[in-house]
This record gives sequence, structure tokens and C-alpha cells, in this order.
Amino acid sequence: MAASYDDIYARSLSDPEAFWAEAAEDIHWERRWDRVLDDSRAPFYRWFPGAVTNTCYNALDRHVEGGRADQLALVYDSPITGVIERFTYRELLDRVARVAGVLAEAGVGKGDRVLVYMPMVPEAVIAMLACARLGAVHSVVFGGFAASELAVRIDDATPKVVLSASCGIEPNRIVAYKPLLDEAVDIATHKPDRCVILQRPQEAAAMVAGRDLDWADAEAAAEPAPCTWVEATDPLYILYTSGTTGQPKGIVRDNGGHLVALNWSMRNIYGVEPGEVYWAASDVGWVVGHSYIVYGPLIHGNTTVLFEGKPVGTPDAAVYWRVIAEHNVKVLFTAPTAFRAIKQQDPNGELIQPEQIAGLRTLFLAGERADPDTVQWAEDRLGVPVIDHWWQTETGWSICANPAGIELMPVKHGSPTKPVPGWDVRVLDEANNEVAPGEIGALVARLPLPPGSFPTLWQAEDRYREAYLEEFPGSYKTGDAGYIDEDGYVYVMTRTDDVINVAGHRLSTGQMEEVLAAHPDVAECAVVGVADELKGQTPLGLLVLNAGVEREKGAIEGEAVRLVREQIGPVASFKTAIVVGRLPKTRSGKILRGTVQKIADSEAYTVPPTIDDPAILPEIAEALRSAGYAGG
Ligand code: COA
Ligand code: AMP
Repeated sequence: MAASYDDIYARSLSDPEAFWAEAAEDIHWERRWDRVLDDSRAPFYRWFPGAVTNTCYNALDRHVEGGRADQLALVYDSPITGVIERFTYRELLDRVARVAGVLAEAGVGKGDRVLVYMPMVPEAVIAMLACARLGAVHSVVFGGFAASELAVRIDDATPKVVLSASCGIEPNRIVAYKPLLDEAVDIATHKPDRCVILQRPQEAAAMVAGRDLDWADAEAAAEPAPCTWVEATDPLYILYTSGTTGQPKGIVRDNGGHLVALNWSMRNIYGVEPGEVYWAASDVGWVVGHSYIVYGPLIHGNTTVLFEGKPVGTPDAAVYWRVIAEHNVKVLFTAPTAFRAIKQQDPNGELIQPEQIAGLRTLFLAGERADPDTVQWAEDRLGVPVIDHWWQTETGWSICANPAGIELMPVKHGSPTKPVPGWDVRVLDEANNEVAPGEIGALVARLPLPPGSFPTLWQAEDRYREAYLEEFPGSYKTGDAGYIDEDGYVYVMTRTDDVINVAGHRLSTGQMEEVLAAHPDVAECAVVGVADELKGQTPLGLLVLNAGVEREKGAIEGEAVRLVREQIGPVASFKTAIVVGRLPKTRSGKILRGTVQKIADSEAYTVPPTIDDPAILPEIAEALRSAGYAGG
């Protein structure tokens, strides 16, 4: 009989080294590890020190050598351009080796950083794997970020080379990436030696002589590069994510632990066998795209789908079902917001043709809280298990899930089920004590974290310790609050910091406040995340103007909205700023953002006992009501 979740989970915690050493047998190691886990620098841990491997070798070469050369590795489906392209493992390896050759010729070697700023085209996947092939460290930046955000990442990661494209394509417009890249390089202090630009047919980019290379020409002329062996503990990538300040956190992923964890997750969490088609409808700019568009499926020998489109509007709310049918997708992974978008346009699921989704086995949701209505709708319409699972950029794979490949446990709507093997999840109060079942507290995971989770922040070990390890000694602070019920099911309710989740995208309200505060007429401001039917949350800004400013409020509000779009990017979905007379504060001057959010969402709230002047709350409610928020 197959082992149960309880048995496997218990073993993963009682003997993690044996557990992960066994999982590591499925990976190619050029040299095996000296120890499975190095805890000599706790609370900093390293998995598989002494081992030597290569992530690209495990994702491509070993499958080509092992009999999968002619199996599809990657299917690119782009309803936005009308293109479908298919790559076998052999074809993908050939392209990756050539692009690695381009990078090597540009001087990129082991440990060098390469910034990838790409739309959802096959070359984005090729770029990432080409870096991995050379032991170079990629940092992918999502296309919806503005030039200044790109510049911050260029300065932090100091890449030798940038891989980019002339444009991305959104349903309502072509987004010219190259001018954004040029502007970012202008703003940044660090200057990359080379930019390799993929010219897309939809828009040609102007090239900077002496710095820019045409991707197609360079690839055609390049010699294929072999794999460079790296330490298991060497970094594979840096992925920046929003934190509590304007300076994003550079999440570091290692090679060895990441290979082991992702490979294990494909069978045990997602329940797919090598050779099957797996589709993560996300973007390579997010962690979901890194782990489950690129690395997980390829390391495990699956076929991965790269989808350049939206759940609705490209061309309609039936596109997911068409893709599932056309490519024989067994497992789909997306964010709840995508299903809310589909449900909004096709509430009765009339566009879902049963024969199109007959092959689909499971739907996985993550990236934000999966609201029970959406989960129920998906269950009813698709007739397959719908699995909410909880994870973060930091962790790289899921902390809690219903592990389809081990055992499907009964679903409780609103809960991502139970901790995944390797994750010792607890709920703590402020004094670092565990709370009773059902009581809300800080969600933490006991150290050491399993393989695949981040060993550090890029060149910011102190920040890693301060942000994640100090508040609850012996544990990793997830930044989420929630509870565990009597049956051991985990519920993730809210963030404990300023992070909001907009359409599955993680953003910092603090960062938006920094941008707004720089407006010359703004004295102070507050940004809160208010409930949104489609996107889960959207940001709302309140502005207090400097004394004596007599300009029209509407003009300043419009400028504020433009500023956030220009400085952070359209992805922030910052559409509303409201000028108010003053902000509600505590007597010690802390802005009561939580109360503002509750008023905007018409939630019941108590007047905080520490409030400086309660009379301000009706004023805020009135301002919010006039701007179309409930304000009750
Ligand atoms: N490059 C440039 N701009 C981008 C972009 C990219 N790669 N991705 C998004 N944007 C822009 C959009 O065009 C939009 O701009 P606008 O304000 O001019 O309309 C803005 O950023 C917000 O985009 P988005 O959050 O995608 O909202 P939307 O209204 O266009 O679409 C959904 C809403 C729900 C359909 C969309 O968010 C979606 O498909 N989500 C799927 C979930 C997902 O991918 N989650 C990732 C984590 S798993
Ligand atoms: P990101 O780092 O962008 O993946 O965002 C991680 C954050 O998204 C988490 O800390 C949670 O706040 C939220 N999140 C992700 N998945 C879930 C989930 N299944 N349920 C609730 N919140 C989630």
C-alpha cells in the first residue's frame, strides 16, 4: 500500500536528511554531496554542500540523453499573436546551448548576473536556461514594471548582460520594452556591457551601437556552449519581490536544493508523471513562472505550456479550455483571479465544452487567497479536484497543499489544506508561543526550511535575518497571519506587513506611498488595499496636500495616479487617489491604515482606542463615499 500523507509528512520532519537524500536520487549529480544539510551556520542553512550539478543539464541534457529527445518540452501558445510553436527536448537544448554561447562570447561566466526582461515568448525560457547552463545567475524582471523599477534591479544585481525584446503585447496595446530598458540603463548607476534584443515582428526596437546585439543574428552565429558544473549551493537566480520598503528584496535560489524540491513536488504535489503536459498559466516574471513554467516541469521530464495571453479577452473566456484540449493538458495551475475573470464573463460556464476538458485531472490555485465562491464555481464547472495551495516567492514551492500525488485529503474551502512534507508550520503569538487551534496568529515555519526555499537575500544577509528570522527565533516568519484548525488544516487570512495582492501580483503599499510622497504638493499620504471583485485587492491612495496648495484637487489626483504608473508600473493597478483634509492617526502619529481599509470596504470596525481624533473618521468615510467606495 502507498504511504499516507501522515506517514510521509512525519518522516520528512523526523529525519529530513534521509528524506531529502532519497528525493535527491532522482537528480543528476556530477559529484555527490558531503553532507545533506549543513547547519553549522544556523540560522543559515545549506542543502547538499559539496555536491556539484547543473540545473540546465537536469532540465534538458539528461532527458535528451535518457530517451526524451523527441518528446515535446515546450509548447508556446500565444492567442495574442495567433502563434503556436512546439519544441522537443532536443530542439530546446539546441537553442539554449546557442544562446548560452552568445552569453559566453559576451563574457558571461559562472556567478555573473544576467538580467532578463522579456515578454512571454519561448526566448524567455531559453534565456533562463542558457544562464543556468553557464552557471550564471539570472534575474528576471516582470514586463509590467516601469523603467525605474528595472533600474533598481540593474543596480542591485549588476548584470553583465541584459536579455530583452523589442516589445510585449497586452490586449489593448503593444508595450515597447526597449525604450523602457534604455531608460532604465540611463537611470541606473551600473551599466551592462551588452543588451541582446529579440526583435519581434510587432514592433522593431532601435539599437544602441556598440552595446546592443540582435538576438537572432547573435544566436545564429554562436557556438553551442556546454554545461558548466556548479556547486549545489551556488545561486541559480535572483528574483526581486516587494518588501516593506521601496527597495525590493532579492530572493536567492540555489541550484541543488531547488532541483530536488521541484522535482519531488511535480509527482508528489501535482501528481504528474514524466511525459505528461503541465500548464502553469502565469508569467515567467513571477516565482510561479520560474518554478512551474520553466524549472519544475522540465526537470521532471514533462511538457510545459507557455501561454502568452489572458484568461479573458484573448479572444474570450473559453481560451483556457481550448488550450487544455489542444495540448492535452493534464494539470492546470493558475491564480484565483484568472478564474474570477472567467466566471465574471461566463457565469454559467456555458463556454466550457466537456470534451475539451475531459483530459484535465486537477486544477491548482495559488498566489492569493482562494475565495470559496471561486473554488466552488471551478469545482462545479470543471468536475475535477480544485486544489488551493499556499506559497511565496521566498519559499519557491508550496508550504501547504493537498498533495495530489500522495493522497487527496477532504477539501475545506478557504484552506490550502495541510503543510507539505518538509514544512513544519506553526501559528505563534507575539511572545513566540504557539496558540491554540482556531486562534489567529503569525504563520511561521520552523527552521531549517526544506530544500528549494531561499538560503539568503542577494548581498543582504543582515536583511534576511532581520526580515525573516529575528522576530520568532528558530522560525521563518512568512509575513502571513492565519490559524490551524483542530484537524490540522491551515488557513491563510491576511498579511502582517504592507504587502497587498493585486490579481495575484505582490505589491508593497509602502513603496507606493514613497512614490506619492515625492509629489511636490503632497504633505503626507496613505495607501491601502481595498477589496476588488476581480483582482482580490486594488490599491487606493489618500493624499493630504501641503498647506497653501490651491491647485485643482482632480489634477493632483490624476498626477498621483500617473506617478505610480510611471515609477512602479501598470502592474500596480493604481487607479484612484483621493485628496482628503487629514489622515486618521494614533496619538503617537501612526496612520490608521487598517481602519481606512475597513471603512472603504464597508466592514465593521471599532474606533481604535489610541486614535488621536475620532471625529476624522466620518470625514474619511464621506470622502470615500464620494469617490465611489462604500464608505459605510
Ligand atoms: N507587460 C506590460 N504591461 C503589463 C504586463 C506585462 N507583462 N502584464 C500586465 N500589464 C499591464 C496590463 O496591461 C494592465 O495595464 P492597464 O492598466 O493599462 O490596463 C496592468 O498591467 C494590470 O494588469 P493585470 O493585473 O494583468 O490586469 P488586467 O486588468 O489586464 O487583467 C486579469 C486582469 C485577472 C485578467 C489578469 O490579472 C490575469 O490574467 N491574471 C492571471 C493571474 C496571474 O497571471 N497571476 C500571476 C501569479 S500566479
Ligand atoms: P508571492 O511572493 O508573490 O508569491 O506572494 C506570496 C503571498 O501571496 C503570500 O505571502 C500570501 O500572502 C499570498 N498567497 C499566496 N498563495 C496563497 C494562498 N493559497 N492562500 C492565501 N494567500 C496566498
